[in-house]
Amino acid sequence: MKHLLKMLDLSKDEIIDILNLADQLKYELAHGIEHKLLAGKTLGMIFQKASTRTRVSFETGIYQLGGYGLFLSSNDLQIGRGEPVEDTARVLSRYLDGIMIRTFAQEEVETLARVGSIPVINGLTDFCHPCQVLADLMTVREHKGSLEGLKMAYIGDGNNMANSLVVGCLKVGMDVSIACPAAYRPDPQVLEFAQGFGDRFTLTEDCRTAAKDADVIFTDVWASMGQEGEAEKRRQAFAGYQVNAELLAAAKPDCMVQHCLPAHRGEEITAEVFEAHANEIFDEAENRLHAQKAVMVTLMKD
Ligand code: CP
Ligand code: NVA
Repeated sequence: MKHLLKMLDLSKDEIIDILNLADQLKYELAHGIEHKLLAGKTLGMIFQKASTRTRVSFETGIYQLGGYGLFLSSNDLQIGRGEPVEDTARVLSRYLDGIMIRTFAQEEVETLARVGSIPVINGLTDFCHPCQVLADLMTVREHKGSLEGLKMAYIGDGNNMANSLVVGCLKVGMDVSIACPAAYRPDPQVLEFAQGFGDRFTLTEDCRTAAKDADVIFTDVWASMGQEGEAEKRRQAFAGYQVNAELLAAAKPDCMVQHCLPAHRGEEITAEVFEAHANEIFDEAENRLHAQKAVMVTLMKD
């Protein structure tokens, strides 16, 4: 594994290896066992979109591993003024040991990896959010003990989170059910991948069908970063695609609820459900740190 660009690129074994290492690093951190596995290494973190969790967890994570993280806002980089990503890739490869990038187009991340000579980590694009889904799988495994055979239901927009969850969950042996309006389905590339899993994958417009007997329910915002102008139209399109107490009644009694955050209470999730599952949701946020440390060690350690 040279880069983390999208879940489609990872094998089941690569995913499980990252989860196992993440568990170990989490244990070591909790027990004061130092793990400066990336001493002297530098990670550049390019942000073309806002972030709380991704920025803070990567910066803290590389520090805990003995390395150094450079926060590179696209407002300050020449890339923001039109310098080609190919040139940026070749320059940054001469200074850094790894790049994390959050941007719009998946193609930009793929180009950075193709042209540069150091590992590239996708910190979210319009297409996918693999770091988040590794943390999600870690959290579900932590709470449920294993992943194989569990049912994951995703309610809402077929966006970057849906794309990554579908692929990640199917690869580790979970069943996947997606409920979304017909006009907001996951990416065709992801649907084609999922269709290969037969009846382990379901796509429906009906939330209750998707949530039925679920072990874990995921949702995400109705309007992602960059879609702010469509917020009102989306509010109408997604009315009814809400994780609420009534929907949870269709799931297993011990069903978990996960949200990558930030959450919009009263839209994709009710405040009541959010608070009832806050422990699981903030474990999920915490696990970004541990999962990404495992990714950095996997990709950047000599
Ligand atoms: N979930 C997530 O990626 O959060 P941020 O946008 O705050 O980084
Ligand atoms: N789908 C959301 C995820 C945020 C972490 C977005 O892209 O804005």
